[in-house]
Amino acid sequence: MKIAILPGDGIGPEIVAEAVKVLRALALPLEMETAPVGGAAYEAAGHPLPEATLRLAQQADAVLFGAVGDWKYDTLPRPLRPEQAILGLRKQLGLFANFRPALCYEQLTHASSLKPELVAGLDILIIRELTGDIYFGQPRGRRAAPDGPFAGAEEAFDTMRYSRPEVERIARVAFEAARQRRGKVTSVDKANVLETFQLWKDVVTEVHRDYPDVELDHMYVDNAAMQLVKAPKKFDVIVTGNMFGDILSDEAAMLTGSIGMLPSASLNERGQGLYEPSHGSAPDIAGKGVANPLATILSAAMMLRYSLKQPEAAARIEAAVQRVLAQGLRTADIASPGCTVVGTAQMGDAVVQALG
Ligand code: IPM
Ligand code: MN
Repeated sequence: MKIAILPGDGIGPEIVAEAVKVLRALALPLEMETAPVGGAAYEAAGHPLPEATLRLAQQADAVLFGAVGDWKYDTLPRPLRPEQAILGLRKQLGLFANFRPALCYEQLTHASSLKPELVAGLDILIIRELTGDIYFGQPRGRRAAPDGPFAGAEEAFDTMRYSRPEVERIARVAFEAARQRRGKVTSVDKANVLETFQLWKDVVTEVHRDYPDVELDHMYVDNAAMQLVKAPKKFDVIVTGNMFGDILSDEAAMLTGSIGMLPSASLNERGQGLYEPSHGSAPDIAGKGVANPLATILSAAMMLRYSLKQPEAAARIEAAVQRVLAQGLRTADIASPGCTVVGTAQMGDAVVQALG
């Protein structure tokens, strides 16, 4: 089993090192190879996604990704910015199905900014379409406005697009996932305004005929944003497009109060996947040894389950994380009175210990 390890920028290298530590402790036949990505790759090779890094990712069964980005790259031309690395990997590997669970750990309920009773036991799965929508739609660019009240002025434009097969395949992923959970899918759209999302809604409704055992409802994205903070536990699986999914998954992550705990998986049609924490590169705390490695360690568990077909190993890691929380160990981001605050490496060591 070949794993490409792409640590990236900011806290990426620190948190990925802990996940690698945990993977090694499992004593499975895992072949791991590391390559630069993001700002680190720009510094080393002049491009955020060098050819060699892309090739390594393509040839691997799975990619373990840290995070990319730093404010210092914000003035680079767009094709050279760190974010292009993750967008390029998603597109080049065809990683269309993004799983972003928002799980509220019992011991961390207090960390949410919402009342504990609203989030206790929360377990939502956001399935975000990841290779289409306004993120990748062509044409896009700048030009002189061809018409309208500001004709001739400089304007910028992006294109929101979804094709029927693109919506069909992500809808199937969502219905299949719901079958393994509580059997409910909420499809989030903006069909009242956007043609793209009228097609989305129509196609999801059609695909639903193949899944009569799953409950489906449709919700406009603005309402979904509101319902997520009003009554989040009413959701099971949320399926939505690339941009709405980007926004709602950050909102859902914050419901748990601990974005430092949330893993994610991005899969293609061959089951190859990229696994990364739901949080970013946090350049403000990089290099200090205080970042929470648990989201990355839990992403490694998702990798074992989805791409490497090692469900027992995945469950061992997840149980170890639970045990460490129960022992009262916390990194600074999830600290609470009476708990022991530990650094990044100590947290990784504690998970290794708890593997048993
Ligand atoms: C995410 C990030 C990315 C996105 C950025 C870094 C391009 O916010 O994974 O959610 O917008 O998809
Ligand atoms: Mn995002």
